[in-house]
Amino acid sequence: MPPLATAPDPDRTPSRRARPRRYLMCRPTYFEVSYSINPWMDPAKPVDPELAVAQWEQLRRLYLDLGHQVDLIESLPGLPDMVYAANGATVIDGKVLGARFRNQERAAEGPAYQEWFRAHGYTDVLEPRHVNEGEGDFLVTGSWILAGTGFRSSPQGHAEAQEFFGRPLISLELVDPRYYHLDTALAVLDDDEVMYHPAAFSPGSRAVLERLFPTAVLADEADAEVFGLNAVSDGRHVVLPQAAVGLAEQLRGRGFEPIGVDLSELLKGGGSVKCCTLDVRDPR
Ligand code: ARG
Repeated sequence: MPPLATAPDPDRTPSRRARPRRYLMCRPTYFEVSYSINPWMDPAKPVDPELAVAQWEQLRRLYLDLGHQVDLIESLPGLPDMVYAANGATVIDGKVLGARFRNQERAAEGPAYQEWFRAHGYTDVLEPRHVNEGEGDFLVTGSWILAGTGFRSSPQGHAEAQEFFGRPLISLELVDPRYYHLDTALAVLDDDEVMYHPAAFSPGSRAVLERLFPTAVLADEADAEVFGLNAVSDGRHVVLPQAAVGLAEQLRGRGFEPIGVDLSELLKGGGSVKCCTLDVRDPR
């Protein structure tokens, strides 16, 4: 059987085009690691709060320099994980599906993000009945919603999202607790191009990914472990942790422009670039 497709030859790949985005972020004013709800969080390990803010500011600055719009939601005391804005909601074509968190520690973040959207002119905002952790587990491609489950978002939450958005949703089972959200194991690079770490998924879900994305960029353990897949792409620039050197090399080979950043402090909460960035998609 001839191969379905081969990796694109960089010399023949048309140059990638960046599309301006609108991102929602939350300054880590009250960031700390005071509880542990994923294997990366160790409350005994010191965090430098000033450095956390400075690193986060660099990320925000970078998005602005790349021509994107960045909106800010006010950080709330007592919600140290609120900096991980990706978990706050899922927004497609102006429709907002609120988040419902699995852990009590983060429960109050759901309503806070929904409130932000209502206050900013979004009229179609759904408060969900089932657990979903926003873009932590829902990643939007040109054709589908890819949805993670196994640790946080529930299968019922997946069904609720598909019904609300009227967009086909592909459920994917995460099996390694270190990759507890889909956005720690897979990133969308362009319409229907992704990169992922196969070992983070169940055998069936791995087969689904191979079928849907036969030419995907695959991340090895070393790149996944430094949160290399927790990346944000505008179709050309891919912002990712600078330690993910193997991935950066692969991306360059596909015609993307990888940009490495250091978010060492926020990593101690189990998140990096993508976790800090909610893609509202439509610039307005
Ligand atoms: N401490 C947070 C949690 O465990 C980190 C969330 C990271 N966000 C993400 N989109 N993966 O819930």
